[in-house]
Parts: sequence; structure tokens; C-alpha cells
Amino acid sequence: MFLASNCNNPSPGSPPQPGKAWWKEAVVYQIYPRSFQDSNGDGVGDLQGILQRLDYIKSLGVDVVWLNPIYQSPNDDNGYDISDYRAIMPEMGTMEDFDALLAGMHQRGIKLVMDLVVNHCSDEHEWFKQSRSSRDNPYRDYFHWWPAEKGAPPKRWSFFDEEENAWRFDSTTNAYYLHYFSRKQPDLNWENPKVRQEVYDLMKFWLDKGVDGFRMDVIPFISKDTAFPPLPAEYNGNFVAYYAKGPRLHEYLQEMNREVLSRYDVMTVGEGAGVSIEDALLYVDENRGELQTFFQFDIAGWGRRADNFLLPDPHNRRLPDLKAIFTKWDKVFENKGWGTVYLGNHDQSRMVSRYGNDAPPYRETSAKMLHTLLLTQRATPYIYYGDELGMTNIRFTDIADYRDLQTINTYNRLKQEGGNLQEFMEGQAEVSRDNGRTPMQWNAGTNAGFTSVTPWIKVNPNLTIINTEAQEKDPNSVLHYFRRMIQLRKAEPALVYGKYELIDAENPEVYSYTRSLDGKDFLVALSFSTEGGRTIIPDGFKAGEIRINNLEKSPVQGGAIVLEPYQAVVLELHKQ
Ligand code: GLC
Ligand code: CA
Repeated sequence: MFLASNCNNPSPGSPPQPGKAWWKEAVVYQIYPRSFQDSNGDGVGDLQGILQRLDYIKSLGVDVVWLNPIYQSPNDDNGYDISDYRAIMPEMGTMEDFDALLAGMHQRGIKLVMDLVVNHCSDEHEWFKQSRSSRDNPYRDYFHWWPAEKGAPPKRWSFFDEEENAWRFDSTTNAYYLHYFSRKQPDLNWENPKVRQEVYDLMKFWLDKGVDGFRMDVIPFISKDTAFPPLPAEYNGNFVAYYAKGPRLHEYLQEMNREVLSRYDVMTVGEGAGVSIEDALLYVDENRGELQTFFQFDIAGWGRRADNFLLPDPHNRRLPDLKAIFTKWDKVFENKGWGTVYLGNHDQSRMVSRYGNDAPPYRETSAKMLHTLLLTQRATPYIYYGDELGMTNIRFTDIADYRDLQTINTYNRLKQEGGNLQEFMEGQAEVSRDNGRTPMQWNAGTNAGFTSVTPWIKVNPNLTIINTEAQEKDPNSVLHYFRRMIQLRKAEPALVYGKYELIDAENPEVYSYTRSLDGKDFLVALSFSTEGGRTIIPDGFKAGEIRINNLEKSPVQGGAIVLEPYQAVVLELHKQ
């Protein structure tokens, strides 16, 4: 059964079809506002900059924009440390700019999804200033405090802390506060009903302005066992999974849905850090009234070391493993819930450098191949700004070029501990989040047309060859292919809703699968190799029309599909 809140059909008046929803059919474009377009010459992207580029965004064919946080923030973690949830950070512009941006998007039929960061706020938020001022302050229980007279608190790991310690001693009240992220990101205490009410109120503030949904930052972490028992042994080495299993998490998500989300026609996507496939439906089974979708992390773990996600692992790059990840996540949502698919975002390095091949002979072909993958899965696709051009990792070698606190704090810690800095720096060149945060490349001019002054983070020097202006002129560009791929998805409901079936699971070079709906069948065949590769047309079918091909040459050879390096095709199939 579909809950009323989830029956979000695009055309008002027509009865919702069970299982269908606008947010399942949408293609989402993610913008990192600091890096998209600077409009006022301070080197930082801003809301007016996005406003100037709305026609470009519309031209892509995307339906929804997700904006990383633009709220008031001291920017310890680029806006993920919020000091006022109802104000715009001055670097981004004003509330008038925001209203104009929202109106401009809606005029063009584009929806806007905001980032909701409520596991933690900034230590400069008024709530925390009050909370830390005395033990009997009314805001004391807005955060998690551990009085020092109880001794040192049980170990909790922090993602960004210089000492990896999630407890920070605060001398004013002789107590430690909890911060899963940086010292400037204290965790909110969701056990306090007042905190939950504050969150619901601020969500309504933005929804009443007309925003179309939320991407919920580390939402699985909001509930904590406030007795803070020692970390159970089975989570040693995987504290993230522990953080995602708080005792009252699903109670809170259901309350949030009841109090807020169910009253609006909006989309929700949780950042599913630590969420296991076994728990997936707890979040998105329609009957439970929690979220619609979340981002799974298995795909981001591929190519990384299992024991340390800050280091790449060349041995963990088997294509059959990647296929297995997509396939098992398709399966879990076969009858209930709905998935998402992404290959890049502001926490990851660039898609083409990571899953494709950014060496000059393969860069464009492999970027197109990855777009073919993203836009033919049975899940809502998220495309990160710049990936429509095939932007690549910048691969900084000097620590001074990095801006991300995760890289910088880890570097400082390793330096202090006498750790392996060379291994770390080589690893960061591949996996640092800053690879995905360099400015959008608009043209071949100074700073790629992003800004007229020195940008907050360096522009990739390959701006001269990778930029929108050049790609607009070239009908074979990644950009034009991306647009054609979106049109194909929109023309064929089978590519959105159709059954997904993996073919040739162990093939080390080719990822191929079929998508089928209402008697229409498609074969998607993707080469992930400099050797090309071959696969087969499944039994009972013969090749029909090639609907899209990232190279000129047809790969169809009778019952076989013979692909050039990184070739991708979507082939219509006919029953034999
Ligand atoms: C999420 C965000 C990331 C941020 C962190 C803390 O993982 O995507 O960018 O640093 O949460 O808010
Ligand atoms: Ca600016």
C-alpha cells in the first residue's frame, strides 16, 4: 500500500498509480554551491551565481537540484556546521537571493532539495553557546554532555577530530561534549523532545517557503544510547555501523514523517552512512512512513581499503564486485522501497577518475559509459555538477592546496604520530573530497569562468580542454551525450521502472543487464576495460535498434556484443 504522502504524482488531478512517483522518475543534479559560480568576485560560488546558470541547468534535462548547505555557518566543514538554520550564510548571499533562486527554479519546472544537517550543528549556534555556559542552562540537554567527575567517557570515534576522539573536554562546565564530526560540530541530543520539535519547526520553515524536499545528512546517526556503554566488540573497526543503529532511530524518523513530511508533497533522501542492506527496508518501506530513499555506501567503498576509507585499494577494484553491489541493492527494493544511484558527490573523488579512466584516450568515452550506467538503473539517479563534462580529479601533491578539514586534520595527526605521510598523500590524490570540490569549468578562460579572482580552491588545470563552452560546440561531447541519455531515460519507462536482470556476472570487463517492462526489453552493455570486452544477447532475444551508443561503431555481431574500450550501448531487444 502507498501512503498518501508518498503518492506524489506529477499531474494534479490524475489518481496516483501505485508504485509510481515523481521522485522515482526524477533525475537529480547536485550542486556544491561554493564551487559552481562566483557572481561577486570574492572567489566563492554563491546563490546569484547559480541563478545566472539556471538556463544551463534546465538545458541538461534534470528535474531536481540538490544544494549542499547554504545556511549561516562558520564553515569549519563548508556549511555542514550550521550556526543558524533559518539564515543564509553571507558568502552565499541573502534570503532574497534564495527566494529568487527558488522562484527561478520553479518557473523552469525544476525542484529544489535542501541539505538537512541535524545530527549536529555548529558550536557557534546559539543553542550550543547556551548549553556550554552552565550545567543548569535550559539548553544544556540540547547536546550530549559527559560530566568529568564520572571519569573519562567511553571511547567514541570521530570522523574529523585531530585525535579521532569524539569527546571534547570543555573546561567551563568541567564536562565532555560529543562530536561525531569535528570539534566545531557538536551532536544534537535527539532524546530531548524539544530538540526534535526545533528540527521539525525548521523543516517546516523551509517547506513552507516551497522547497521540494531534503537530503538528510548522516541521518542514521541521530539516535544514541545515552548511557554511552563501551563500544560493543562486534563494532570494533566498524563504528559507523554502530552509529547507524541507535535505539530510537526509527521511532524518530516515523515521528518526523508524521509531524512534517507527510504534510507536504516532497522528496526525501537520507545519507545512509553505516546502513546495512539488511536494514534497508526499515528506512524506506512505504508502510513504515519514514524516508523515501537513501544513499547506500557500498558503491563508495569499492576501490577503497576496507580498514581505512581514506586510502584507495587497487586490489579492491574488481568489476564483478561492482556489479554485485548494484545487483544486490536492486534486489532489496524489488517489491518495496526505492533506491538511488550515484557515482560522485562532494564527499567522493571524481566519477571518471574513480570508476572510469581519465587518461586522455579514454576519458570522454568512459565518462559517457558511466552516464549510461547512472541513467539505466532502477533507482533515482544523482549526477554531481561537473560530471556532465567528465571533470577529473585534480590530484594535489602539496598539503597547502587542500581545503578539506578531513584531509588536513588527518595529515596533522599522522605527522604528529610519525605516520606514513607519503602513503597518505598519494592516497589523498585519488580519494580526497577536494578532488570533487574544484570549481566548475565553464570556459577556457581565467579560472574557467568560475571567478574573476583567486578561487577558494584551485581550478583543475585541464580547464582548457574540459569546459562547457567547448562541449556545447561539440556534438560528440560528454555533455551532449549526457543530455541524450536523460532523454532516453525519460522516453522509456522501462529504464526507470523495468525489472533489472544482471547478465554475465563474472565477466571481468563488461557490465551488462536487461531492463524490461510491459513487453519492452533493453540490453545495457558497458565496457569497463581498456581491452573492450564481449558479452551476449540473452537467450530468446535478438538485437533490435541501438538506442544509444557512446562510439560510432555498432558492437552487435550476431548474438554477441563486442565492445571497444569503454564502449556503452543501450540496445532494444526483440523476442525471437
Ligand atoms: C556528511 C556530509 C559531509 C559532512 C559530514 C558532516 O557525510 O556529506 O560532507 O562533512 O556529513 O556533516
Ligand atoms: Ca561569491
